[in-house]
Amino acid sequence: MDFSDKRILVTGSSRGIGFGIATAFLDAGARVAINGRTPESVNAAMEKLGNNDHLLAAPGDIGTVAGCELTVKTAVDSFGGLDVLVNSAGVGAGRPIAECDEQMWDEHIDINLKGTFFTCRAAIPQLRKSRGNIVNIASDAGLMGVPGLTVYCGSKGGVVNMSKAMALEIAPHVRVNCVCPGYVDTDMIRQSIIKSADPAAAEQEMIDYAPLERISTPPEIAAAVQYLASDDARFITGTALAIDGGTTAGK
Ligand SMILES: NC(=O)c1ccc[n+]([C@@H]2O[C@H](COP(=O)([O-])OP(=O)(O)OC[C@H]3O[C@@H](n4cnc5c(N)ncnc54)[C@H](O)[C@@H]3O)[C@@H](O)[C@H]2O)c1
Repeated sequence: MDFSDKRILVTGSSRGIGFGIATAFLDAGARVAINGRTPESVNAAMEKLGNNDHLLAAPGDIGTVAGCELTVKTAVDSFGGLDVLVNSAGVGAGRPIAECDEQMWDEHIDINLKGTFFTCRAAIPQLRKSRGNIVNIASDAGLMGVPGLTVYCGSKGGVVNMSKAMALEIAPHVRVNCVCPGYVDTDMIRQSIIKSADPAAAEQEMIDYAPLERISTPPEIAAAVQYLASDDARFITGTALAIDGGTTAGK
């Protein structure tokens, strides 16, 4: 796909899925703003990406409104506008309901849901000017209930439905879509595998979770994001595209 000279901000692109998305857009000719919570994490990612003049550092804490606004402002001031916003910053932890405390609730809702909203809110005036679009990274856990992931499901279900409302409110000027991945091989799931009592069994469970019997990769998620962000998807808004190996088709 060709995104030559498109101006793109990817939150949570210092590693994982966001890093994969940033890599794909860079390879397609875009200018890409890299975000992570700290300048150090952003600088390390930029180094891995080759530190070229298509890259911009836009660190900021997406768990706060000020951080969302700073991140968007950094990208817009330097790029002179914005064409695509991808919200990939997120956290995910599994716990039984009785062990979910206020801190866990606040962290999931602040980063996954509130952060996505306020980053969109800050970017929308620029996206209106460019007739741009937004792709939010939700989850298969935003499309169905998963026991042990109640708080995460709440945050990601919110992202899916909020994106639909946003798509309606800002049509026809700006398109808003979600991508809903199943398990993707990143630090997020590697940490949960490592912390489990039987890591090999935990990994196998994730492989078996999808009818297509494997864990996905960041480039596979990036390909879906690029499609939704591209002109080929010009008649698509308010959709939630599952990239989950078939999980939500029947679970
Ligand atoms: N990995 C999976 O299996 C999976 C599945 C479905 C959905 N997702 C979603 O995809 C997105 C990316 O997940 P991942 O697997 O790459 O996770 P990851 O932990 O590997 O990376 C998360 C990224 O978000 C950033 N981030 C976290 N909190 C932040 C904050 N407050 N401010 C700025 N940046 C912050 C981190 O710096 C990092 O770049 C998340 O929204 C996650 O919920 C992941």
